[in-house]
Amino acid sequence: MASQKVKEICQELVLSQEALKEVCDRLQEEINKGLGKESNPEATIKCFPTYVRELPNGKEKGRFLALDLGGTNFRVLLIELGDKCTMESRIYAVPQPIMIGPGDGLFDHIAECLASFIKERNLGTELLPLGFTFSFPCKQEGLTKARLARWTKGFKCEGVEGRDVVELLKKAIAKRGDVKIKICAVLNDTTGTLMSCAWKNHNCRVGLIVGTGTNACYMEKIEKVELWDGDLEEPRQVIINTEWGAFGDNGCLDFVRTEYDNTIDRESLNPGKQLFEKMISGMYMGEVARQVIVRLVAEGLLFDGKSSDILQEKGSFFTKYISEIESDEDGDFNNCYAILEELGLNNATDADCANVRHVCECVSRRAAYLAGAGVALLLNRINEESVSVAVDGSVYRFHPHFHNLMVEQVSQLIKPGIKFDLMLSEDGSGRGAALVAAVASRTSAMR
Ligand code: GLC
Repeated sequence: MASQKVKEICQELVLSQEALKEVCDRLQEEINKGLGKESNPEATIKCFPTYVRELPNGKEKGRFLALDLGGTNFRVLLIELGDKCTMESRIYAVPQPIMIGPGDGLFDHIAECLASFIKERNLGTELLPLGFTFSFPCKQEGLTKARLARWTKGFKCEGVEGRDVVELLKKAIAKRGDVKIKICAVLNDTTGTLMSCAWKNHNCRVGLIVGTGTNACYMEKIEKVELWDGDLEEPRQVIINTEWGAFGDNGCLDFVRTEYDNTIDRESLNPGKQLFEKMISGMYMGEVARQVIVRLVAEGLLFDGKSSDILQEKGSFFTKYISEIESDEDGDFNNCYAILEELGLNNATDADCANVRHVCECVSRRAAYLAGAGVALLLNRINEESVSVAVDGSVYRFHPHFHNLMVEQVSQLIKPGIKFDLMLSEDGSGRGAALVAAVASRTSAMR
């Protein structure tokens, strides 16, 4: 059991049901602003229409390439859709200097990885359709045109904001002159996640990521999307990439934010931006926990008041530690001791471990409840009897209780009578990209 004093200090991370209901109501308001023509320019949640209007029917076929940029790694994938879906992929590192260097460097790197993947597998003879999963906020101007609104997460490459990333990729490929591909779609990872799940599950209407960043997309009726500039043919619906990570950037979440959130924001690559994301996602959760722990040490409530050099370093408490510490069986602290040792804290006691675990629980529970409040709002908007939510991302996948905590919170805020489930969506960024490309070619063939 955590000590009383530690619990008191952690209390500000504990959100009441009233506060979560308020978060839900404010999200509703902000999404309405994002969808409204006049309010959109000032809106923080941009609600970008994706131009994806049809869900897969399960019969899509063919071979596709996919590029996946936006999480911890960059991947190139080869996907074969048929009765089953098979894929091969390779992960390439994106070195830190490239993540924050000039944009050309980034796109040259992507093109180089793609070229080497194609050569290794002798795919050079076919003109394969390619889906580009680019998981940053983009204003889409069509299925193959997406202007980067701003970088998020760990990226900050000059000369890309405001530009069409498909154009930049094409240029980098043309400059090399050694590969031929046909870019059929550019999409966000949330869209890929929704599509990947919808392939076999026809109730799927929401795609959610809780990984390095957090974001959600959902299927909206065209009449609610005032900014829609496409045709009005059936189906009169379109997937909206909400970019809810930016929720709170106008101060509307200050009532639940803490001094830890402020510090993290101030020291980030994008101060003042992505405030909801900074309370929820994997890029920041570990750092929230570290800051609380550092404070508890300073107040003499942990490790006899003695810190370590590693613990004092920003970013040293990885988000995966939270998952590992909470995976310890009740009453045993094996992972916790091992992690504290890695951090140079060798004299921890069982009481210290119980307190550290409490901090982790507060941080992850807050994240799961906030994400849950967001999902509840989307389900209430969709207002169908039974909806599946496709979810992916390292936090959702690896945290032992995240799924259950989210379900608990969605159930609290959902309208009576709506049934829902949260499903792990395997490989949205790969299979989802192929499906968007496939559905796009089916749709254009139909029209
Ligand atoms: C960030 C990006 C968003 C992406 C999310 C999850 O919030 O802005 O586009 O979907 O991370 O990867």
